[in-house]
Amino acid sequence: MNLVVISNRVARGKANEPMTGGLAAALLPVVENSGAIWVGSSGRVRDGFQKEPFAEIEALGCGALAMLDLPAAHYGGYYEGFANSALWPALHSRSDLIRTSQGDYLSYREVNAFMARALMRFRKPDTAFWVQDYHFLALGAELRELGVTEPIGFFLHTPWPAAAVVEGVPHHRELIEAMLAYDLIGFQTTQDCDNFLSYVRDDLELPVRDGVVNSRHGRTRLAVFPIGIDAEKFATGAAKAISHPDVSRLRRSLNGERLAIGVDRLDYSKGLVNRIHAFDRMWTLHPTLARTVSLLQIATPSRGGIEAYGNLQNEVARLVSDVNGRHGEVDWTPIRYLNKGFSQSVLAGLYRTAQVGVVTPLHDGMNLVAKEYVAAQNPADPGVLVLSKFAGAANELDTALLVNPHDTDGMARVIAMALSMPLTERRMRYEAMMDKLKTHTITHWFADFIRALQQSQSECAPPIADQGMTEPDMPESSPMWRLRGAQGVARFH
Ligand code: F6P
Repeated sequence: MNLVVISNRVARGKANEPMTGGLAAALLPVVENSGAIWVGSSGRVRDGFQKEPFAEIEALGCGALAMLDLPAAHYGGYYEGFANSALWPALHSRSDLIRTSQGDYLSYREVNAFMARALMRFRKPDTAFWVQDYHFLALGAELRELGVTEPIGFFLHTPWPAAAVVEGVPHHRELIEAMLAYDLIGFQTTQDCDNFLSYVRDDLELPVRDGVVNSRHGRTRLAVFPIGIDAEKFATGAAKAISHPDVSRLRRSLNGERLAIGVDRLDYSKGLVNRIHAFDRMWTLHPTLARTVSLLQIATPSRGGIEAYGNLQNEVARLVSDVNGRHGEVDWTPIRYLNKGFSQSVLAGLYRTAQVGVVTPLHDGMNLVAKEYVAAQNPADPGVLVLSKFAGAANELDTALLVNPHDTDGMARVIAMALSMPLTERRMRYEAMMDKLKTHTITHWFADFIRALQQSQSECAPPIADQGMTEPDMPESSPMWRLRGAQGVARFH
C-alpha cells in the first residue's frame, strides 16, 4: 500500500528547529518511519492559474515530503479567513469570534480542490489517502470528484463541538455533507465523536448505525483515536537535554527557586489569560510563594494577521507586565514571558527543569504538551502536571491534577498544592501517567488508524487482498506495520 498523508503544515526532519504546532511535530517521526509521502503547504504562495501545481519534493525518512505553493489569490481567504476565522473558533466553541465572508468560503473550497488536483500526481492503484485536520474538511469529496475510489481517511486534531455551535459556521451543512466522502473519520475523544454523530443524525437527518453513517457518498465510519507521543524517546531526549546551553542557563538562573512552565501557541483556546490570573491570585494568597516560585510562559506567536490573535497578544503582554509590576522585586521576576518557539529537544529539557507543568486550555483536541511534560520528568523526582479538564489529554492523564480553567481561585489552590506535593504522591501519579503514555504511543495511533481505514473500506468494497494491498506490500522495516494485529486504542462506536 502507498500511503499519502496530507496536512496544511508539514515539518522537515530537523530535530533542533523550532516547530509551531503539535500536529506537524507529532507526525514527523511516524511519517518518516512509515515510508509515506507527506504533502502540505510550502508556506509560499504563487500567482496565476497553475495547471500543474508546483511542488518541492525532498526525501523524508523512507518516504518523501512534498511542499506545495498554494494559490496566492485564495491563500488568505483559505487560511486566515475560513480555516482560522470560522472553523477554528467554532471548533473551540468560540462562535463569538467567527469573522468570515462568502469569499473566504469560496477560497477554502478552491484550495481544497487545488490540493485534490495536486494529489493526483501521487496516486497509484493501491494508494490510501490520510487527510489531517480542519483545513481540508472537503478534500475527500474533491478527490472523489476526480474519480478516486481508493480509501480516504480523515483525522480531526481539534475538538468537535455541539451541534448548536457547528450551526454558526456558514455553509456547515454543505461542508459536513462533503466530509461524508471520507471512508473513516477519526476524533480525539468520544465526546467529539458523539457530537459529530448527533449533528449528522439530527441536522443532516442521515441514518447512523454502530458508528457508521450512510449518505449519498456511501458509508463513513466514525471512531476515536487519541493521539499519543513516543514517550520513551521523549524521556531519553529530556535527560540528555539537561546539558543544552539554554537549559543550563535556565537552571543556573533559578538559584534554588522553583519553576512552573507553560508552553503554548498564542491562541485564545489555550487559556493564557486565565492562567496568569491564577498565578496572580496564588502569589496574593500565598505570599511565601513569591520569590520562591516563578512561571516560565512560552507563548509562540501564531496567526498574527487575525484580529483576535493580535488582541490576545496585547492583552497577555499587558497582563504579564501588570503582574510582574505588582509582585516583582528588584531581583525577582514572577513571570518570564517569551514570544518565541523552541525546538522539541530544548523544550524537553525545559519541561524536566520545571517542578510544575501548567497546561490549562479552555478547550483543546488533545494537547501534546501535557503528554510531553510528563514524559520529560525525572522518574526519581518527577514534577506535577496541572491539567485542564477540557483538554482531550485529561481522559488519559487522569492522575494529573485536573482543574477548571474558568475557576481562578481553584487553579491558584491547585498550583500551590502541586508545589508542595510529597515525592511518593508525585511518583505514583507520574508512573500511572507514564504507563498510559507508553501503551498508547504515536506509533499505535498511526497503525490503528491505517488498519481501521483499510477495514472501513473493505466493509463495502472487495477485500484488501483482492485490491493488491497484501501483507508483503507493507514496508517490513517500518515499526508501524510490525504493530499490525496488536491491540489498538481505537474505540469503535
Ligand atoms: O490542533 C490543530 C493544529 O493543527 C495543531 O496541531 C497545531 O498546534 C495548530 O493547529 C497549527 O496551527 P497553524 O498551522 O495555524 O500554526
